[in-house]
Amino acid sequence: MNILITGGAGFIGSNFVRRRRRSAPNDRLIVLDALTYAGNLGNLDGLLGEIVFVKGDICDAAKVKETLAEHQIETVVHFAAESHVDRSILGPGAFVRTNVEGTVTLLGEARAAKVRRFVHVSTDEVYGDLSATDPAFTEKTPLGPRSPYSASKAASDHFVHAWFETYHFPTLTTRCSNNYGPYQFPEKLIPLMILNALEDKDLPVYGDGQNVRDWIHVEDHCAAVERVLDQGKDGEVYNIGGMSERTNLDMVKAILKGVGKPESLIHYVKDRPGHDRRYAIDGAKIERELGWTPARRLDEGLAATIAWYRANPAWWQAIRSGEYQTWYERNYAART
Ligand code: NAD
Ligand code: TYD
Repeated sequence: MNILITGGAGFIGSNFVRRRRRSAPNDRLIVLDALTYAGNLGNLDGLLGEIVFVKGDICDAAKVKETLAEHQIETVVHFAAESHVDRSILGPGAFVRTNVEGTVTLLGEARAAKVRRFVHVSTDEVYGDLSATDPAFTEKTPLGPRSPYSASKAASDHFVHAWFETYHFPTLTTRCSNNYGPYQFPEKLIPLMILNALEDKDLPVYGDGQNVRDWIHVEDHCAAVERVLDQGKDGEVYNIGGMSERTNLDMVKAILKGVGKPESLIHYVKDRPGHDRRYAIDGAKIERELGWTPARRLDEGLAATIAWYRANPAWWQAIRSGEYQTWYERNYAART
């Protein structure tokens, strides 16, 4: 199978590439990634000789068309997106461009190229937020996004569904909860807190720290996406959760304990505008229909993640210095 993986140089996409190389070594993997600030070829370290990397923007229809044709793509797994809520509040335009226009461009070109399967990787944030006592999101929960990020992802979900209904284009959509694990860009809660703790810096907790997220290890998310890719039913949506709801404060305290630093590093800061209170996933459908449940316990996954950041200072120091952004030119472009 020739698989196009958009956003494969990002956090989840690169973990998916690493997993798929192991689980289906005969597949040809082609990564299409624009290498925005969140894209990092260092995330694909050790894999670049085994896959094809194409630097390109999903909004560039000609580049997408050329890539699909040149590599005879049969399947698309679509991770590429602007993914950080705080950035979407400061500058929503980039989110509309990549998440909405980029997805529509990709759908159009994939259909023209007669792609046989299109897996769209979305988020539980499209459902909106929950109170402490509300039941968890099911696939039938109406979409109610509240941030520019989740609004742009919800719009992309609607277009994906429209392609299935209107053109009978074989799409599948996954909606996952908050991921953590290796190679996550240190603007998101878990890696930011781990690195700040390692460096004895303040840990900025928004508001009262009582917002709840359902945490899933990225390897579990990638396993679920792979299950949907291999066994999912066209036109369906699958929720993916970690079965691990925690308040942000509990997560931050667990990180401080894991790193061996005092809780006095916790620093309460101004809340995020429109901050969603709680997300929770009902994962019954994917368990019932595809036999998937998360394998990692949060305490074990978090300990492994802290160990990974401790063991890989070169990876995050290159991000902190900005050096990671010239990696492509220095190491890769020259050879291709
Ligand atoms: P990320 O920000 O780490 O990576 C995004 C990747 O997409 C980067 O490599 C970036 O260079 C690339 N990209 C951005 N704009 C592009 C464009 N116009 N053309 C081509 N490439 C472009 O994001 P992530 O955390 O790995 O998330 C991947 C996907 O999973 C996203 O669609 C996100 O909405 C979804 N998701 C993320 C989470 C989470 O907790 N991180 C949870 C559920 C769903
Ligand atoms: P984040 O990792 O940005 O994911 P999302 O907003 O998509 O859920 O944030 C996770 C939670 O942590 C969210 O409730 C916001 C909170 N948060 C902080 O308290 N401090 C921070 O510095 C960051 C980045 C997030």
